[in-house]
Amino acid sequence: MIKVMVLNGVNLGRLGRREPAIYGSVSHDQLARHLVETGLGLGLEVEVKQTDSEAELVSWLHQAADQACPVVLNPAAWSHYSLAVADAVREVPQVVEVHISNIAAREPYRHDSVVTAQATGVIAGLGLGGYDLALAHIAASQPAA
Ligand code: DQA
Repeated sequence: MIKVMVLNGVNLGRLGRREPAIYGSVSHDQLARHLVETGLGLGLEVEVKQTDSEAELVSWLHQAADQACPVVLNPAAWSHYSLAVADAVREVPQVVEVHISNIAAREPYRHDSVVTAQATGVIAGLGLGGYDLALAHIAASQPAA
């Protein structure tokens, strides 16, 4: 089975409690369980992790680069300014950036992501379903075994 890392950045551990009108009422634990199930249905071994430490996220991206492991990444607020995260993303062969909300339709400081140009592609504004779509894309884009 192909391993995929789903990596969630700062404040996403607050899912379900943080601004539910924007981010929904599902907790990070519930999302993680759902994505593992989704992955199994797609033939993927999904590992879901969240951190509020930029250094930790960068270290997970380094692991993904070393293992050539596809990544679904929501860099959260780091999207908007972290060149460290963007540089680490450059090294990973396949990264689908996901934003739960449509960042282009929100406050001006959220409109740009410094990560997007380094990612394979981006899904924004489709709610938590964006993670499922990212996994479906990764599953569909793997070379036949
Ligand atoms: C987010 C959008 C970011 O602007 C914000 O800082 C987040 C979540 C999203 O998933 O919509 O924490 O990445």
